[in-house]
Amino acid sequence: MKITFLGHASLQIEINDINILVDPFITGNPKASHIDIDGLKADYILVTHAHQDHILDVEAIAKRTNAVVVSNFEIVSHFEKLNVEGHPMNHGGSWNFEFGKVKYVNAIHTSSFPDGTYGGQPGGFVIEGEHKNIYIAGDTALTFDMKLIPLQTKLDLAILPIGDNFTMGIDDAILASDFVKCDKILGYHFDTFGYIEIDHDAAKRAFFEKDKDLMLLEIGDNIEL
Ligand code: NI
Ligand code: MN
Repeated sequence: MKITFLGHASLQIEINDINILVDPFITGNPKASHIDIDGLKADYILVTHAHQDHILDVEAIAKRTNAVVVSNFEIVSHFEKLNVEGHPMNHGGSWNFEFGKVKYVNAIHTSSFPDGTYGGQPGGFVIEGEHKNIYIAGDTALTFDMKLIPLQTKLDLAILPIGDNFTMGIDDAILASDFVKCDKILGYHFDTFGYIEIDHDAAKRAFFEKDKDLMLLEIGDNIEL
C-alpha cells in the first residue's frame, strides 16, 4: 500500500494497481499548486464529508477518470445528479471493494455543501486492504467511538487531523491514537490556512514523548506500508 499526501486532507492510496483518491482539494490549495489534477489516477474517490476543502476537485477528477465516488448517501446522491457514478454508504456499514474492505465510521464535525445544502453526517474510513489496515479519520473531534475500531481491526496506520481549530489538535490526536491502538500516525489537515498552522517540530516531539511516531509528509511525497 502506497500513500501519497496531496496537501490538506487529500490523499492518493495505491493498493495493488487500484488508485483511490481521498477528499481531493488541490486546485483550491495554493500550497499544492505543483500537483496537476489532470495527472492523477483514480478508480475510486473516497469523500469523508461535504465541505469545500474536501470535495472541490471530486467532480472534475471523477468525470475525467470515471472514478466511483464512495461516501455517505447524501454526498453520493449529490454527485450522481452531476452524472458521477457513486457507491453510497452510511455509518457503521462496510463493503468489500476490489481493493479491500471499507467501513464508513463516525466523525464529529459538520457536513454542509458549499451552498449550504445538507451533506449528510460526516465520517471517516477504515480500509482493510492487502494485509495493511488504515484509518482515515476525516475532520473530527476526539471521540470515544474511535475505541470501537481496534475491536475489529488491527491498524497499521492512523491518518489523523492535527491542525486544531476545526478538528482535533495535537493533544487530542495523541489520545485518538491511543483510542485506535495505533502508534504510527500520518498527520493531515494542517498548515493549509491560518487557523490550522502548526509547529512541525513541536508536534513530532509531542508524539515522540508518548512513544508514538508522527509523520508529516511534504505535498507530493509518499510512504509505503
Ligand atoms: Ni470539514
Ligand atoms: Mn476540512
